[in-house]
Amino acid sequence: MNVSAQTSTGYFHPRRIGHVNLYITEYEPSLWFYRDIVGLCDGWTRPAISGGFLNNGASHHDIGFIPWNSSVIRNKAEGPGLNHLAFELENEVDLVGGYERALAKGTKFQTTDHLIAYSIYSLDPHGFGIEIYADTGLSFADADFKKLKRASVGWTPNAAPPSAEHRYVREHRPRHDEKTLFHATKVTGAVIVSDDFDRARDYYTSVVGLTPVVEGDDFVVLGGSCGGRDVSIFRAKTGQKSLFHHMHFSVSDERDLEESIARAGAFGVVVEREINHRRRRGAVIKSPDGVRALMYVDRDPNHAGLAVLSAEEAVWLV
Ligand SMILES: [Fe+2]
Repeated sequence: MNVSAQTSTGYFHPRRIGHVNLYITEYEPSLWFYRDIVGLCDGWTRPAISGGFLNNGASHHDIGFIPWNSSVIRNKAEGPGLNHLAFELENEVDLVGGYERALAKGTKFQTTDHLIAYSIYSLDPHGFGIEIYADTGLSFADADFKKLKRASVGWTPNAAPPSAEHRYVREHRPRHDEKTLFHATKVTGAVIVSDDFDRARDYYTSVVGLTPVVEGDDFVVLGGSCGGRDVSIFRAKTGQKSLFHHMHFSVSDERDLEESIARAGAFGVVVEREINHRRRRGAVIKSPDGVRALMYVDRDPNHAGLAVLSAEEAVWLV
């Protein structure tokens, strides 16, 4: 069954996935991979804490990373992998309103003022972190940000009246840096394999507020109000544990992607899998920690037809 765009039924009304934050092992190889290979050529690096926040113009960061054994992390980690998925809201009104609705029903969040965004954090049913945020309008490149620069601090939602302004990036102009292998324009989604499928589906719709856009036999694709495929959840096979399967990044066009694939060897990068389907052209590469990134261009951007695919085929096409 295909489900067309519906109104969000969750506490929040996310526009889209804004970033993926990862626990890494080593700073320099991770910076090389996400900046020089994936192509997130802008952002803010913090060598002192081995952290990076990289973008290509769509947001303050599409990828964040920090060592999994750092003393400054929010949730204890057992190794590299997914820290959290973050969802961009329209404005602070949605953030504060959703926070209060959730709290009234017993769903608790940590709250943080990051200067660039107000954020609230929780855990999904698998224990993966979830961040829901509204931008403040400051960017890492902002003189105000540099002047104010400080560690993130606690935040009291509704201490001041929330702003109804839309402060996310309105005009995305990605850079094309010839020095990078791929040229990601932005992160567009995350794919999770779940051993608690029904609860996961319920969490991402009723708490986060994403909407089902494709329902297959063993998977569901959820999207925000921008019409993307932001989180896809696949039912784990018997005995299989929940895992972060991969994240995906759009690139500007197919010719650019072909050139990147052809040049991968010269960059010391192995393309683990190529997708050459009537729906999509893509290449799967792996971070130094083994996290998979699918770089892709859609030949058919419509959701129609995805629902009838097998899970094995759909996992690289959603
Ligand atoms: Fe984050």
